[in-house]
Amino acid sequence: MAVTFLALLERLRNKRLVYVGDSLNRGQWVSMVCLVESAIPPNLKSMSAKHNNSLLIFKASEYNATIEYYWAPLLVESNSDDPVNHRVPDRIVRVQAIEKHARHWSNADILVFDSYLWWRRSQMKVLWGSFGSPDGIYKDVMMPRAYEMALNTWSDWLEVHVNRSKTQVFFVSMSPTHERAEEWDGEEGQNCYAETEPIAKEGYWGSGSDPGMMRVVESVVDQLKARGLGVQILNITQLSEYRKEAHPSVHRQQWEPLTEEQKAKPISYADCFHWCLPGVPDVWNELLYAHIFHNRTQRLENRVDGL
Ligand SMILES: *[C@@H]1O[C@H](CO)[C@@H](O)[C@H](O)[C@H]1NC(C)=O
Ligand SMILES: *[C@@H]1O[C@H](CO)[C@@H](O)[C@H](O)[C@H]1NC(C)=O
Ligand SMILES: *[C@@H]1O[C@H](CO)[C@@H](O)[C@H](O)[C@H]1NC(C)=O
Ligand SMILES: *[C@@H]1O[C@H](CO)[C@@H](O)[C@H](O)[C@H]1NC(C)=O
Repeated sequence: MAVTFLALLERLRNKRLVYVGDSLNRGQWVSMVCLVESAIPPNLKSMSAKHNNSLLIFKASEYNATIEYYWAPLLVESNSDDPVNHRVPDRIVRVQAIEKHARHWSNADILVFDSYLWWRRSQMKVLWGSFGSPDGIYKDVMMPRAYEMALNTWSDWLEVHVNRSKTQVFFVSMSPTHERAEEWDGEEGQNCYAETEPIAKEGYWGSGSDPGMMRVVESVVDQLKARGLGVQILNITQLSEYRKEAHPSVHRQQWEPLTEEQKAKPISYADCFHWCLPGVPDVWNELLYAHIFHNRTQRLENRVDGL
C-alpha cells in the first residue's frame, strides 16, 4: 500500500489536494494522510491549521505537496461553520453564499467534496442576506430543494473558478448510516452497536441513504458537465452499505462526558455514522486514487488527440 501511495505524492508534487465538506469527508482526509504518511520520515512531514482551524494541512515537504481538509459541512455558508462549536439548535443556511469558504480552496489542484448528512431533515431554514444583517429574509425551504439550491451555488462557483486544465473535481456520494437494525433483519431497537459482521444481503440499501438526494447530485453534476466542467462522482454508497460493523460505535472519543443514563445503555450513544480507521474510507481513497490517475491519463490522451 505505502509503495503505491508514494506515486500519489509524486503526482501531488507542488500541488494541493483539498477535501471539503463534513466530518465524513474529514475521516476520508485522515485516512488519506495515514495512507501516505508512514512512507515519509518524521522531519519531512508536518501538520498545521489555518483560518481558525477551518483548514487542516498535512504537508510532505520533500514533495512540496499538501493534503488538506476544509470544514464546510453544508458546502455553502451556514451557522454551523465553526469547526469546533457547530452544534447549534437551529440550523440556518445561506444557500446562495459560498465565497467565504471557496476562497480557501480556489487554487487547489484536486478537490474532493461531500455534503449529505447535515441536510437530512424535512426542511431547512434558509437565509437570504447575511448573518447579523437586520434586513435578512428567513424562509423554511423543503428538502431536497434547499440542497439543490446549495449545490447550484456550488456548481456555479466551480464553473467560473475552476481551471479545467489544472484541477480535478470529485464529489463523494452519500455515506450510509446504520441506525436501525430491523432494516437488516436485526433486533428492533438496536443499531450498529456490537455488530461484528457485514450485511450479506446483495444490494442491501438502508433508509439512511436517500436516492432522491443522490439524483439531485447527479443532475447538478450533469448540468455542470453540459457547461464544460466534469465532476467525477465517487459512488461509495452501495459498497459501504454492507459495513454495519465498521462504525466506531461506542469506541470513539466523547466530546461531552456521558450521563449515567447513557452509560447504562451503550446503544444510546453508539456512533453509527462515522467509520473506524483503518477501514471503509481507505477503500474510498483507493477509488479516488484510481480516478486521479485514470482521469489524468484520459486528459493527456484527449490533448494528444486534439493536436
Ligand atoms: C509549492 O506548492 C505550491 C502549491 O501548493 C505552489 O504554489 C508553489 O509554487 C510550490 N513551490 C515551489 C518551490 O515549487
Ligand atoms: C474562532 O474560533 C473560536 C472558537 O471556536 C470562536 O469563538 C471565534 O469566534 C472564531 N473566530 C473567528 C474570527 O471566526
Ligand atoms: C490553468 O492551468 C494551467 C496548468 O496549470 C496553466 O498553465 C494556466 O495558466 C491556467 N490558466 C489560468 C487562466 O489560470
Ligand atoms: C451509485 O450507485 C448506485 C447503486 O450502486 C446507483 O443506484 C446510483 O445511480 C449510482 N449513482 C451515481 C451518481 O453513479
